[in-house]
Amino acid sequence: MGSGIAQVAAQAGFPTVVREMSNALCQRAHAAVQGSLAKAVEKGKLTPGERDLTLGRLSFVTDVAALGGCDLVIEAVVEDLAVKNAFWREVDATAAPGTIFASNTSSLSIAAMAVSTSRPDRFVGLHFFNPVPAMQLVEVVRTVTTSDATHGAARAFVLRLGKQPIDARDTPGFVVNLLLVPFLLDAIRAVERGVASVRDIDTGMSLGAGHPMGPLALCDYVGLDTLQRVAEVMYGEFREQRYAPPPLLRRMVISGMMGRKNGRGFYLYAGETPVPNTILG
Ligand code: CAA
Repeated sequence: MGSGIAQVAAQAGFPTVVREMSNALCQRAHAAVQGSLAKAVEKGKLTPGERDLTLGRLSFVTDVAALGGCDLVIEAVVEDLAVKNAFWREVDATAAPGTIFASNTSSLSIAAMAVSTSRPDRFVGLHFFNPVPAMQLVEVVRTVTTSDATHGAARAFVLRLGKQPIDARDTPGFVVNLLLVPFLLDAIRAVERGVASVRDIDTGMSLGAGHPMGPLALCDYVGLDTLQRVAEVMYGEFREQRYAPPPLLRRMVISGMMGRKNGRGFYLYAGETPVPNTILG
């Protein structure tokens, strides 16, 4: 999601620094933004001049110290509190005192990150949705330590991106995942129970309920490992069965089926169009 967030920030006119763990990942992120902007130009949503200005506002670095001059740092690393907090401690050591920190976490506690830094009042959640350039919503998550000024600045930033903010409290899953995750897990349970085929479950919800994509295609889109991780965090907090990752999801993730990102999930993505993964029955 990081490259999508960087793209929309740069498109909105902000000089944007993308920090990745290696040069290879920097190149991948750069290529992802270039590809996405090229599509926007092709569709006539962006002029070649705007594309070039956007690319000119982006820099890709591996050294965390390069974030030192930023007014806002948005983190989009893996959904693991220890990994996120290790990153935050590193940035906290070099960032200017006034810099606001924002996490793009889907499910982890904003407070648990805020207190690992020297600036819990300048810490907020900014939860984007995939694909970031196309999805209008950003959840602005205020925790018990977030100051009014930080919350206001975060909302203003989202509006500058041309996106719609909604305010959410720092509770597991915020608004969207609180409702979306049990729905996605129920679709997986429907596969487990043999209610219908993968394709028919998706067609049912696309055509019967007007969803832009079916729930199993969406599971693949989010990433099955990410979905499992988010569900585990929510189950750990609420201890409600509706958030428990279904056994089929666990078995798919253990078997290396991560969804669209590695070509194997409820659908197989090797060909022109995705085909249902018949091994699931
Ligand atoms: N980057 C930029 N724009 C994109 C894009 C991408 N990767 N993918 C699609 N778009 C844009 C297209 O350019 C198009 O824009 P216009 O209408 O202005 O031309 C629009 O999105 C629709 O795209 P398409 O016509 O190509 O395809 P589609 O109609 O099938 O839509 C979709 C694709 C936007 C992904 C749509 O299927 C959709 O909205 N799916 C649901 C996505 C969703 O629920 N996301 C949230 C996941 S949960 C999450 O992210 C957070 C979490 O914590 C787990």
